[in-house]
Amino acid sequence: MKFLLIFGSLLVSFCVADPVCTNGFSLVNGAKCLKFFATPVKHRVAETSCASYGGALVTIRNAIDNRAVSTFVGNSGFSFWIGVFCVSNDPSTCYFDDDTGSASAYNNFARGFPNVDLGGCVYSAATGSLAGQWISSECENVEMAYVCEIPTTRADTCAHNFNGYCYLLSHENATSPTLPFSAALDSCHQNCADLVSIHSKREISYIQSLYTGSNISTTMIGALTTSPLTPYWIDQSRWDYNHVSPRSGSSGSCFQMAVSTDGTWYQVDCKTSQYFVCKRPNGITCNNTPAPPVIVTPAPTNPSGCNSTTLFDSGYITSPNYPTSFVYSYCVYKISTLGPYRIGLYFSDISTYNPYTSVQVFDSNGTALGTFRSAVSPLPYYYSSSNSMTVVSLSTANQAQFGGYRGWAAKFLSF
Ligand SMILES: *[C@@H]1O[C@H](CO)[C@@H](O)[C@H](O)[C@H]1NC(C)=O
Ligand SMILES: *[C@@H]1O[C@H](CO)[C@@H](O)[C@H](O)[C@H]1NC(C)=O
Ligand SMILES: *[C@@H]1O[C@H](CO)[C@@H](O)[C@H](O)[C@H]1NC(C)=O
Ligand SMILES: *[C@@H]1O[C@H](CO)[C@@H](O)[C@H](O)[C@H]1NC(C)=O
Repeated sequence: MKFLLIFGSLLVSFCVADPVCTNGFSLVNGAKCLKFFATPVKHRVAETSCASYGGALVTIRNAIDNRAVSTFVGNSGFSFWIGVFCVSNDPSTCYFDDDTGSASAYNNFARGFPNVDLGGCVYSAATGSLAGQWISSECENVEMAYVCEIPTTRADTCAHNFNGYCYLLSHENATSPTLPFSAALDSCHQNCADLVSIHSKREISYIQSLYTGSNISTTMIGALTTSPLTPYWIDQSRWDYNHVSPRSGSSGSCFQMAVSTDGTWYQVDCKTSQYFVCKRPNGITCNNTPAPPVIVTPAPTNPSGCNSTTLFDSGYITSPNYPTSFVYSYCVYKISTLGPYRIGLYFSDISTYNPYTSVQVFDSNGTALGTFRSAVSPLPYYYSSSNSMTVVSLSTANQAQFGGYRGWAAKFLSF
């Protein structure tokens, strides 16, 4: 089939082809790209392996998928990790790794499961009476085979083909590996592409994977902002996913992405020459002129979080009564994210009173990542090793002793 689309003033002819899989993945059930890894590993290692393909552990949303995945793994005799993580024993709190919601609509837990006392991770049993059924498991002390899933795409000759788009990397183009914003945009346009816009954590993982093995730590993306911060994508797509670094105190109207660490986006001067990524729909040919940007404003969110049930994905936590005063309090903050991702916790303000304060940050497995009692400079930030983190904040004297102290505030996000 052939369509003509008008993209601003960009005239594009567009072939709609059958879905294909790249990177050695197999098309299963006409809609899923899967790869089976027989060597048993811990859950986090499996997640990291899948993310390096821009994917996640396989998600199973109906009985047809469940059968197809079991058939795909075949009678290898291996139980395998699947992409669902449970926060409690209610399946509606078991979340699919690909950000598509909870397992309340469909799941295939064995009788008596999920049971998070055994752990939040889930595997599909290989053989015997439980074959194809889902079992809760400890995440980091158990090793399992696993199945990764990446989105289907359309056939194209480009080197980096993912989820219907081609990604062009400036450092693979010897003529101009680094350019300032306008020249980079122009270079993308010459390839019928735009500077990359990013719409999911999965897309971030994919782009990061393209830089694995390079010595490049940051790359320019197609976001611009006016001041105060109101970012938008130069390719006119919606600002439907935000990964601006909470530590981005910098100025500048352009953005670079920290590809070698947490994938967050930092403001940077548009005149700085940088590596960059272009992105275009795949299967197109074009004759071009650039399209003007459209400004889209994101909506900010937040509460305090003390003792709340698990906090998800991204947001703010603060000491109670912040920033009015730092009061007598004991609070536990449980932060969690979807299975394949980790958490970055970034303190943005610390105004606490040393002798009667203790703020502790714990990793997913309970290891202390850090503790502070009073202001620390530079402001600390922590990364979890898996998909949860806990903050315990204690102040043991009464309010009168805390005159002039605001308490503390931190932002978290998953990456
Ligand atoms: C490489 O960069 C040049 C100069 O900016 C540009 O004209 C060309 O289209 C680029 N090629 C690729 C494959 O990105
Ligand atoms: C990466 O390595 C290349 C070749 O060794 C070098 O030219 C380039 O300057 C390096 N880039 C960075 C960001 O260190
Ligand atoms: C938070 O919960 C703990 C017990 O789990 C309790 O001692 C503390 O008072 C609670 N904090 C607040 C501010 O409600
Ligand atoms: C927790 O995880 C970290 C990072 O993987 C590791 O270094 C540490 O030994 C683990 N601690 C325990 C108690 O398992």
